[in-house]
Amino acid sequence: MKWRDGIAVDVSWMDEEHRAMVDLLNEIDSSVQAGENHFQLHYLLDRLVSCTEAHFAEEERQMLQLDYPNYENHRLQHKVLINEIRLLQTAYREDFVSLSSEAIAHMQSWLTKHIAGMDADLARFVKRLEDSDPDVNGPTDL
Ligand SMILES: [Fe+2]
Ligand SMILES: [Fe+2]
Repeated sequence: MKWRDGIAVDVSWMDEEHRAMVDLLNEIDSSVQAGENHFQLHYLLDRLVSCTEAHFAEEERQMLQLDYPNYENHRLQHKVLINEIRLLQTAYREDFVSLSSEAIAHMQSWLTKHIAGMDADLARFVKRLEDSDPDVNGPTDL
């Protein structure tokens, strides 16, 4: 999975954090393909969890602050994904599962869909507010 401009939402902090998550998933993928270095994979999974938690928390904070109409659905989708990643992290740590390319591909496709769908909607909402904010557009004479 490559970072593509096609999944950019044009809100810079969101794009930066999405890119970091895409990079981490790619690193995890390479590490699995290179033969599962457990120590490194634990570390990468921990980073993926903390990165994702922080990112979701920030999006949710912004949605609440802006009174975003689709907040509940968006938050729910975050909850489903972070639970899946946490389960995978725990199962891997406890030696219940080995990390498979399928599990990683699943997370990658979920993330891509979420960014292209719900996050793109949120970004459009944020940008519309910025465009209609007179402080952003400069002072008026009225
Ligand atoms: Fe999101
Ligand atoms: Fe996001």
